[in-house]
Amino acid sequence: MSKLECKDLSKSFSISGDTIEVINNINLSITEGDKVAITGKSGAGKSTLLQILASLDSPTSGRVYLDKTDFASLSNDGLSQIRLHNFGFVYQFHHLLDDLSVEENISIPLSLKNELNSESKILVNKIMKELDIYERKNHLPWKLSGGEKQRVAIARAIVTKPKFLFLDEPTGNLDRKNASIIQSLIFEMSDKYGIALISATHDNDFISSFENIYEISGTKLNKIYE
Ligand SMILES: Nc1ncnc2c1ncn2[C@@H]1O[C@H](COP(=O)(O)OP(=O)(O)OP(=O)(O)O)[C@@H](O)[C@H]1O
Ligand SMILES: [Mg+2]
Repeated sequence: MSKLECKDLSKSFSISGDTIEVINNINLSITEGDKVAITGKSGAGKSTLLQILASLDSPTSGRVYLDKTDFASLSNDGLSQIRLHNFGFVYQFHHLLDDLSVEENISIPLSLKNELNSESKILVNKIMKELDIYERKNHLPWKLSGGEKQRVAIARAIVTKPKFLFLDEPTGNLDRKNASIIQSLIFEMSDKYGIALISATHDNDFISSFENIYEISGTKLNKIYE
């Protein structure tokens, strides 16, 4: 079982001479299959923590490990490989490529891994059917509704069956009905493919489905017990 861990993680930003400490000495351990929600008010540092755990940003101090591998010991190429082989990402605003069809967008991570072949194309079709976007496979993203775009973003993030799926406000830009559909699909895909979830969210309905709920408050990460 893979384990993603951070030890004594701190991050501050300097803006025109002022230093803002966003998170301070955070420790967290996430094992494959875990479902972790990170909540906290706007500006608390949820996205910052997610970006650092996903190796997309580096901490001011402290360490992130995937199993025994210390992210600080890796080059940018090394970190790209870690992400490609272990992580998936879903953002609030989808980040789909406008010139590529739904099917092509979903296939991007497979192309990057040199794994686009007849077998993986069957998986792409299967996932599009599971997420109810198969009928839209040849459409460009701008033709889709917000909920459909989010389903394409989820499909793209899980098509390589990552061990860890990072979600930054995945329901934040959706109406309640679509948020509820996306929420169910995320958990269904997580259970089906054994994918750990690490999600930043303010959405109370979404939060309540998680097993492990943390809040960032005053630079610290606190576990919330139901
Ligand atoms: N690159 C950056 N440079 C300077 N300050 C930054 C940078 N990124 C984030 N911050 C600051 O760090 C703090 C935490 O930001 P972050 O985006 O992590 O909050 P958040 O909890 O995700 O908020 P939201 O709920 O609004 O998405 C904010 O005060 C933000 O302005
Ligand atoms: Mg955020």
